[in-house]
Amino acid sequence: MIERVEAPIAATLRNGRTVTIRPLAEHDREALLQFGRSLPDDDWLYIETDLHNPDIINRLVDAYAAENWRQFVAVTETGEIVGYSAVRRLPGWSSHVGDIHLIVRKDHRRCGLGTALAQAIFDAARDLGVSKVIVEIMQEQTSGIAIFERLGFNIEGTFSDHARDHAGRRHHLYILAYHII
Ligand SMILES: CC(C)(COP(=O)(O)OP(=O)(O)OC[C@H]1O[C@@H](n2cnc3c(N)ncnc32)[C@H](O)[C@@H]1OP(=O)(O)O)[C@@H](O)C(=O)NCCC(=O)NCCS
Repeated sequence: MIERVEAPIAATLRNGRTVTIRPLAEHDREALLQFGRSLPDDDWLYIETDLHNPDIINRLVDAYAAENWRQFVAVTETGEIVGYSAVRRLPGWSSHVGDIHLIVRKDHRRCGLGTALAQAIFDAARDLGVSKVIVEIMQEQTSGIAIFERLGFNIEGTFSDHARDHAGRRHHLYILAYHII
């Protein structure tokens, strides 16, 4: 574990609301759990990290200062978490690659928050020293595919029936990628 100091970023969204984007902190445990619980089933089914599960939340928060992982939250003026993004350096021969996660609470979508969180993640990816970032995404996650394609990612691979949702159904998995350098 290392100590990092990253300045919070204030972002005014297209709906006029202001959020602060800052690194996930140890005191975010309860707010992150509430964020996970606020996700509708159609999100929860398809995201790899089960943010409904308190054990997973603990694992994320415990890793707030992990060397190969950068996690950010978007926090409202009242202290609610309305967005989460992360980049994690892969191990072994893909250690130049970062794996990205991004999710925004439904009532804050289409206001630019996903883009702002993605920007924080790109900066963090550079800081981690990775030269390529990828997103693993199920075929049905059309909003996720749309935002990453808009950010310049391309589909580099499709794996058939490769991912199972939380109900056990299989889905095609896309690997979207962006080469930073
Ligand atoms: C993907 C996600 C993070 C986007 O967050 P967001 O805050 O709505 O993103 P933005 O407002 O910055 O949208 C940026 C652009 O992405 C595209 N986009 C986003 N959602 C879209 C949708 N549902 N349909 C079509 N295009 C979409 C648009 O081009 C949009 O720009 P516009 O609103 O000016 O047209 C959000 O929809 C989400 O959390 N989805 C569920 C989780 C997920 O799929 N995560 C990605 C895989 S880890």
